[in-house]
Amino acid sequence: MSATSRIKAPTPSDIMARKGGTPLVSLTAYTTPIAQLVDPHCDFVLVGDSVGMVLHGLPSTLGVTMDMMCLHGAAVARGLERAMMVVDMPFGSYEESPEQAFRNAARLMRETGAAAVKLEGGLAMAPTIQHLTSRSIPVMAHVGLTPQAINTLGGYKVQGRGDDRAKVMADAQAVSDAGAFSVVLEKVPASLADEITAAIPIPTIGIGASAGCDGQILVVDDMLGLFTAFKPKFAKRYATLGEDADKAIAAYADEVRARSFPAAEHVFGDAAPEPKS
Ligand code: KIV
Repeated sequence: MSATSRIKAPTPSDIMARKGGTPLVSLTAYTTPIAQLVDPHCDFVLVGDSVGMVLHGLPSTLGVTMDMMCLHGAAVARGLERAMMVVDMPFGSYEESPEQAFRNAARLMRETGAAAVKLEGGLAMAPTIQHLTSRSIPVMAHVGLTPQAINTLGGYKVQGRGDDRAKVMADAQAVSDAGAFSVVLEKVPASLADEITAAIPIPTIGIGASAGCDGQILVVDDMLGLFTAFKPKFAKRYATLGEDADKAIAAYADEVRARSFPAAEHVFGDAAPEPKS
């Protein structure tokens, strides 16, 4: 990351101004090499708390800590030149009070260079979002299925069907009114996502929502076929890197056991090579 090239990165206001325009493209990233791969193609990159499940083998996002988000956020920042970076606030780092949220959001931005933080929750989090945005911390909100709340939501269910429809709409309205510059809509019916997108003035970023949202996000390891522990319906696979890696590792193991690796071209002779003329 260089100071001059990062000046080209969009700001939260630029992202907000894309409402109703060409869809915003986003993926998660947790490491420098993946950040370098996604950077040329994305408007913003999310250092998601999905890192806990995808890279650390945790059963949910609930065990993710501030230290983990700071470490992965700093690694991703080193791989970005043109995309904006958003870092997730982990479970327990913002719900207690707006003051706690400010302290931790400021730490995430200071230690990672993120342009914004993302936090989960609608109406109940509106005062916290208002507190942060009025103190120079841009907030991306996240409503619908909020994975940090799986224990109260009863699992990873679609949110906003039947009587819950009005609740998800009210959540989206509340975070928008509180000053969020965009909102992730996760696992909500497509017709509700379209209705929310038409009703609020900030960009909606869909994941398991609708092609009518103002942008889309996926977990990068899902779409590359690298994370295969489970596959949500919305996680379209654009590659099968997990299968390719399995084949490559099996071939390496076979060659080591057969002593065909390393071959002559991978080892060193006693004499230094002749200098090239
Ligand atoms: O943590 C994450 O990866 C997310 C996306 C699924 C939006 O919050």
